[in-house]
Amino acid sequence: MTLVFAGVCSHAPGITGRADLADPQLKEGLYLAFDELRARLEESRPDAIVVVAAEHFANFFMNNMPAFAVGMADHYSGPIEDPDWLKIPKFTAPGNRNLSQRMIQEIMQTVDVAYAEEWLFDHGIAVPLNFLTPKFDLPVIPVNVNCQGPPLAPLHRSWAFGEAIRRAADSVPERIAVVGTGGISHWPATPDSGKINETWDRDFLDRWCRNDRAQLLDYDDLTVYTEAGQGGFEIRTFLAVAAAAKGAPGTVHYYQPIPIFAVGCTTATYDLDPNL
Ligand SMILES: [Fe+2]
Repeated sequence: MTLVFAGVCSHAPGITGRADLADPQLKEGLYLAFDELRARLEESRPDAIVVVAAEHFANFFMNNMPAFAVGMADHYSGPIEDPDWLKIPKFTAPGNRNLSQRMIQEIMQTVDVAYAEEWLFDHGIAVPLNFLTPKFDLPVIPVNVNCQGPPLAPLHRSWAFGEAIRRAADSVPERIAVVGTGGISHWPATPDSGKINETWDRDFLDRWCRNDRAQLLDYDDLTVYTEAGQGGFEIRTFLAVAAAAKGAPGTVHYYQPIPIFAVGCTTATYDLDPNL
């Protein structure tokens, strides 16, 4: 059919794991934003959700690190983290091997994508799903962009990957939703954890909403590392969604730096043109 939904959200483990330590008003505001994102997603009546994530050495390691990977299984389980720490109980989410296979075949016409028949979801996918499909009843197609182990996937290739995902979505009869997950500026698992560069984040989100390819690709890893931390490398997931939206304008529905969650928490969507 085509892409029926394109959005992004944060996936920091603190959003669930440290929820009880946050200012209750801030936490409620974010949880409401996730509820609204879920309502928008449900309104689009998707048959499957492609989650473009930046996983954290849960499945892909430095002995064999793909730049881009797509899951190809009928079931996935998670979270790989301690459920008591993440505060998300163990779950099994449905996949759709057949749909994955068809989309991968189309994606690999232009992108050398890896595929995986086994995939344990870490917080990068588990946290968004916990809010967007809390019953874990919508088939998931997990996607990973290497934002963790340098050399990282180049930004322009992440864009090309997003274009390929869109082409694949357009090539299948199913209604496909795509959600990119990641932090913008953040310094997770470092002594600077909790630091957030709000100015940098807002500038990035402004570029994302204008869906300005040149401006979105006008970053380099060293500057991102300096200004947005190693967590800022996860912009690749947002870029892939921007490319998949084919120039559609975006709206930030929620942005709030919440240091205890270690990230500027974000929800945003693109206003997809049904004629494109
Ligand atoms: Fe992450």
